[in-house]
Amino acid sequence: MGKFDGKVAIITGASKGIGAAAGRAFASAGALVVLAARGSKALAELAEEIRAAGGEALAVETDVSDDASVARLVASAVAKYGRLDFAFNNAADGHRPTPLADISLEDFDRTIAVSLRGVFLCMKHEIPAMLAGGGGAIVNMSSTAGVGAAAGIASYVAAKHGVLGLTKTAALDYAEKGIRVNALTPGPIFTRPEMEAANVGQWVPMKRMGRPEEVAAVAVWLCSDEAAYITGAAIPIDGGKLARTA
Ligand SMILES: NC(=O)c1ccc[n+]([C@@H]2O[C@H](COP(=O)([O-])OP(=O)(O)OC[C@H]3O[C@@H](n4cnc5c(N)ncnc54)[C@H](O)[C@@H]3O)[C@@H](O)[C@H]2O)c1
Repeated sequence: MGKFDGKVAIITGASKGIGAAAGRAFASAGALVVLAARGSKALAELAEEIRAAGGEALAVETDVSDDASVARLVASAVAKYGRLDFAFNNAADGHRPTPLADISLEDFDRTIAVSLRGVFLCMKHEIPAMLAGGGGAIVNMSSTAGVGAAAGIASYVAAKHGVLGLTKTAALDYAEKGIRVNALTPGPIFTRPEMEAANVGQWVPMKRMGRPEEVAAVAVWLCSDEAAYITGAAIPIDGGKLARTA
């Protein structure tokens, strides 16, 4: 018996990287997982992998920046499994390093639409479904860039700071209604080969990047009863990066 047996979890950005690791982690804890991302092939393959390992998974192609698409995602989860207990709102868009004045309006709007409005839309649709089932737990993906800044990524930094604002406010809005809302602020997590080539880990006190599984495990823990008194928190998973002043 897994600790999440019978529980239903939505994971966005689940086709690769941290989201795919979270899909596997929630499923191995026993949850019925609803995997969402833009592309459908890798998503369908992950759902198949989880089912082949004895779990239960549904893949729903979703654009988190689109209200109707997110509404369809949540409706599909409830139609298939009858309830919604957990959500890991993890999807975000990439960004090309660019000084602020050179960021195009289109690029700024796209980053905010996916990485900030996407988290808002997910919570907007997930929360009523959770309330209908008596409560739940939400984990939103921020970043160390949601706490401090890095040069060249103003729109990403703004979006990730915004995710923490949404998280804290939602935590207060639903603190008495049985829904806990927390955020993760990871440092560099090894999801792309070029991160290793750039030796990104050297900037971290622990001198290494994190692994997607190390982030997924914290998302699972935050949804579990072991974290029952934690809401409105931003949990660093960063090898000590945010602890350092210089
Ligand atoms: N990798 C890191 O170093 C790191 C560090 C801190 C925070 N984060 C955050 O963690 C999350 C996952 O990062 P990752 O490195 O695993 O990313 P990734 O690029 O490997 O995967 C991103 C996922 O988001 C999905 N996605 C992108 N746009 C979408 C949209 N409009 N609608 C639905 N899905 C969409 C993609 O399909 C993919 O599944 C992101 O929010 C990222 O900002 C990553």
